[in-house]
Amino acid sequence: MTDNAVPLHHNADLRSRNTLRLSARAEWLALPQDSAALAALLRDPRWRGQPRTVIGEGSNLVLAADIPGLVICPQLRGRQRLTEQDDQVLVEVGAGEHWDDVVAWSLGQGWQGLENLSLIPGACGAAPFQNIGAYGVELSDVLEAVEALSLEDGSARTFTRDECGFAYRDSRFKSAERGQWLITRLRLRLNRTPRLQLGYADLAAQFSALPETLQTPAGVRDLICQIRRAKLPDPATLPNAGSFFKNPCVSTAQHADLLARFPDLVAFPQADGQMKLAAGWLIEQAGWKGRRVGDLGMHAQQALVLVNHGAADGTVTGADVLAFAAQVRDSVQARFGVTLEQEPVILPAHSERGA
Ligand code: EPU
Repeated sequence: MTDNAVPLHHNADLRSRNTLRLSARAEWLALPQDSAALAALLRDPRWRGQPRTVIGEGSNLVLAADIPGLVICPQLRGRQRLTEQDDQVLVEVGAGEHWDDVVAWSLGQGWQGLENLSLIPGACGAAPFQNIGAYGVELSDVLEAVEALSLEDGSARTFTRDECGFAYRDSRFKSAERGQWLITRLRLRLNRTPRLQLGYADLAAQFSALPETLQTPAGVRDLICQIRRAKLPDPATLPNAGSFFKNPCVSTAQHADLLARFPDLVAFPQADGQMKLAAGWLIEQAGWKGRRVGDLGMHAQQALVLVNHGAADGTVTGADVLAFAAQVRDSVQARFGVTLEQEPVILPAHSERGA
C-alpha cells in the first residue's frame, strides 16, 4: 500500500529493524523516500491524532511493546558537497544514509573530520538525536545544521548547531522536544587539511606506532575500526544496542569518596568540574562482565554492552531486556551508590505502552 507515494505496511514486524532483534510490531510502517511525500503524509488529515514515531536503523532502541499509529523509517538518501572555501567543505547527507558509509565516503573524497566516528552503527538521521560520539569527538564538533520536519504538521525547520541543545549523548530532539521532530538532512563541516584528534589514550598510543605514511585520517579510521571490532560485538552476529548505559558524572567530593574505597576507579575530569566515571568499569567490578542471566548478558569484551544471545529463537522481549538492565543498575547502585542512566531509547513512549 502507498499513501501520497509513501510505501506503507500494516502490522509490520520490526524485528529486522532493531539491532537487539526484539520482536514488536508497528501498527503502520511508513518508508518515505523523499521529504515532500513525507511532509504530505504528516499533513494528511486521515492520520490526524495518530501517534507518530520515528526510527532509523534501530541501533539504539529497546522495543518494549508494539508501537501504535504511524512508525516512520526515513529512507531519504543523498550525499553531496554544498560549498568549499579555503580548506573547509560543507556537505549535506540524507537521514536515511548509513552513517559509516558517509564516514568512508567523506574520507575517500579527501575530507577529514568524521574519522573518529567510524563504524558507529545506525542512520545519519539518528546521529544528531543522541549526539553520537567516540574517541574524543562528538557529532556536535562537525555538525553545521540539521533539517527537520515537524511530526505534528509536516512544516520544515532548520536548526543551527547551537539550536540543537547538544550535550553528552543528548539533544533537544532526544530530550526537551522528544517526539516532535523528524530529522531529514544533516549539514556537516569537514576539512581538507587534517586536524587529527588523538586525545584518547588507546588511540594515541597505537597511532604513534604506525609508519608515518599511515598517520593520516584514513589511518585513524582503520585503527578505530580495529579497536571497535576487538571490543564491541557486531549486531549482525550478537544482537546489541551499543553502550547500554551512559557514563555517569559525579561531583569531585563523591569521586574522592569512591576513590578512597576503590583505588582503581576509572574517571575522567569534565570541563564543568565534575568527574565522568567509566560505567564499563563499574559494571565489570559489580561482577557483570561476560555474565549471562538466561539469554541476556553483558558482553565479555566490553561490560557496558548488553547482548541478546537468544535472538535466533526470538523469545527475548523488550520487557526481559529492561528487567535484566534493572538488575545490573541495582547492583552498581548497591556497590557504588552511583545511578546508571540507560542510553538506548525505549519505544513505544511511556504514554503509549498502556502505562
Ligand atoms: N572499562 C572497564 N571494563 C569494561 C569496559 C570499560 O574497566 O568492560 C573501563 C576501562 O578502564 C576503559 C574505560 O572503561 O579504559 C573506557 O572504556 P572504553 O574506551 O571502551 O569506552 P566507554 O567509556 O566504555 C564510550 C562510549 C562508546 C565509545 C567509546 C569510545 C558511552 C556510553 N560509550 O564507551 O560509545 O565507542 O567510549 O569513545 O559514552 C555507544 O555509545 O554505543 C558507544 C559504543
